[in-house]
Amino acid sequence: MLEQITATRYVTPLKEGGSLPGIVEADDLGTYVLKFRGAGQGLKVLVAEVLVGELARGLGLDVPRLAVVDLQAPIAKYEADEEVQDLLTASLGHNLGIDFLPGSFGYDGSRPPAADVAADILWLDALTANVDRTWSNPNLLVWHRRPWLIDHGAALYFHHGWPSRGADAERFAAQRFDASTHVLRDVASSPAAAHERLAPALTTELLDRVTALVPDEWLEPAPGLESSESLRTAYREHLQARVANPAAWLPEDAS
Ligand SMILES: Nc1ncnc2c1ncn2[C@@H]1O[C@H](COP(=O)(O)OP(=O)(O)OP(=O)(O)O)[C@@H](O)[C@H]1O
Ligand SMILES: [Mg+2]
Repeated sequence: MLEQITATRYVTPLKEGGSLPGIVEADDLGTYVLKFRGAGQGLKVLVAEVLVGELARGLGLDVPRLAVVDLQAPIAKYEADEEVQDLLTASLGHNLGIDFLPGSFGYDGSRPPAADVAADILWLDALTANVDRTWSNPNLLVWHRRPWLIDHGAALYFHHGWPSRGADAERFAAQRFDASTHVLRDVASSPAAAHERLAPALTTELLDRVTALVPDEWLEPAPGLESSESLRTAYREHLQARVANPAAWLPEDAS
C-alpha cells in the first residue's frame, strides 16, 4: 500500500485551469501536491498516476514520493474560495498526494538529462502511451540537478474505454506512439537500446507490486472487470501485451 496520511491545511491552488491541483500540508509535516478525486477527470487519472509513477520508480527513474492523502470535512468547510471549496467538498476521503519538491523548476532544456536516462523516460512514455511530455507541457521537474517525472494522469488511456469496450490488451499493444513532439526526443539515446535495458525489468513481480499500490476504492468496476483483483490483472496484462510488441510503438533510433 501507499503511505496513508491526513491533510491538515489547504495552502493554495497550484495554478488555474486543468485539474486544479492544490498544495496541502499533512500530518506527517510534509507538503504535497494534491490531485483531487473530485476533479473532473475522475479516479482513473489517479490510478494512472500511481501505476505509471511507481513503474517509473521501479525502473530506476526519479519520481516524487506518492501517498494517499485523507481529506476531511473541516478543511473544505473553512476554505474561503468558493470554487476551491466545491472541489474540496467533492474530494472528501482519499486523494493522491505527490511530495512537493521545493525549489524545483520546470524542464526547459538547459539541463538535459544523460542520454540513456532520457531514452529510458521516452521508452516509458511510449510504453504507457503517455502523450503528456512535450515541449508545451514537459511534466518534468529539475531538482537537485536531476529530472523528476510528474503528471502521468493522461497515460494508459485505454481504461477510459473500459465501460463500453471492455478490456482489450491486444488493441493497446498495437497502438502507435508519436514521439516526434516528446520533450526528450533530441537528447535521448537509442530507444531500441532502452527497450533492451528495461523490458526485462518489467517483470510480473514489478507489475504486481505496482498494481497492488492502487487503493481498491479507486478501481472502478467495468463490465467483465467487477473486482479490484480483475482490474489489477487487466492493467498488468495490458502492459505485458504491449511490452511484448515493441514493433508497434517503440520510437525509431534517430539517424
Ligand atoms: N511534486 C511537485 N513539486 C513541485 N511542483 C510540482 C509538483 N507537481 C507538480 N508541480 C507543479 O505544478 C504544475 C502542475 O502539476 P501537474 O502537471 O501534475 O498538474 P496537471 O493538473 O496535470 O497539469 P496539466 O494538465 O496542465 O499538465 C507542474 O507543472 C509543476 O509546475
Ligand atoms: Mg502537467
